[in-house]
Amino acid sequence: MTKTALITGATAGIGAAAARLFAGRGWKVVGTGRRGDRLRAMQEELGAAFLPLELDMRDVNTLRQLDGLAGDWGGLDLLVNNAGLAPPADPLHEQDWDRLDQVIETNITGLVALTQALLRKLIERQGGIINLSSVAATYPYRGGAVYGGTKAFVRQFSLDLRCDLAGTGVRVSSIEPGMAETEFTLVRTGGDQAASEALYSGMDPMTPEDLAETIWWIATLPSHLNINTLELMPTRQSFAGFSVTRKG
Ligand SMILES: NC(=O)c1ccc[n+]([C@@H]2O[C@H](COP(=O)([O-])OP(=O)(O)OC[C@H]3O[C@@H](n4cnc5c(N)ncnc54)[C@H](OP(=O)(O)O)[C@@H]3O)[C@@H](O)[C@H]2O)c1
Repeated sequence: MTKTALITGATAGIGAAAARLFAGRGWKVVGTGRRGDRLRAMQEELGAAFLPLELDMRDVNTLRQLDGLAGDWGGLDLLVNNAGLAPPADPLHEQDWDRLDQVIETNITGLVALTQALLRKLIERQGGIINLSSVAATYPYRGGAVYGGTKAFVRQFSLDLRCDLAGTGVRVSSIEPGMAETEFTLVRTGGDQAASEALYSGMDPMTPEDLAETIWWIATLPSHLNINTLELMPTRQSFAGFSVTRKG
């Protein structure tokens, strides 16, 4: 039977690369995002293997009805909770509340609502859930309080969900990447293309395709194996250590 994956945030970056890779390797892919034009372009590119689903991860009422996906697209083998974003990397007291709220609603509330809505379908097929967390879940940095906090939630949610799903055959994994060149920094900086290019310049960042391959690897492991968490970084990204402020 052809397998089906639902990939959130399939209009850009890691989600778009994963949608292409899974469809190219024989899966059916339901791809979501707010930008309908990009979803339609992907449908033209991938044909019948791709079902576009234009939705906002902050629209919890719609997410909660997605267990009603019908017909050929009714079964689900894999949920990739990939849609997400970060606010500008400013200290919390300088952040705009609306941006923070958008990040919390997208990265946490929407992810939980969608996962809950689709769990029974995933249990029926002994499917899998792959959640996109981040190294920001583990390693703090200045300006990362809300983003890192949301990604720490995603990591712990993944681990706790494994307990709920014990005995069902459903696998849950948290992927925790470092820097990958996508539209992530463009979104974070409010559209500053030069800042985005400068960040990735000369440091060989991971590519969306690297992470799509990682998602594929986890999804296609033998069914007796569960990757709980997987942290990965570009070789040129490392740790900055502790900082100290001095008086006077
Ligand atoms: N790039 C990195 O360095 C990196 C590192 C660690 C973790 N991650 C995580 O990886 C995931 C994918 O990020 P990316 O790097 O591929 O970023 P990206 O290129 O900016 O893609 C983000 C995707 O999320 C979707 N999205 C954002 N807000 C949404 C909303 N309210 N409703 C529906 N979809 C929404 C976007 O679609 P629309 O705009 O069309 O809605 C887009 O498809 C995120 O969870 C991110 O936190 C990224």
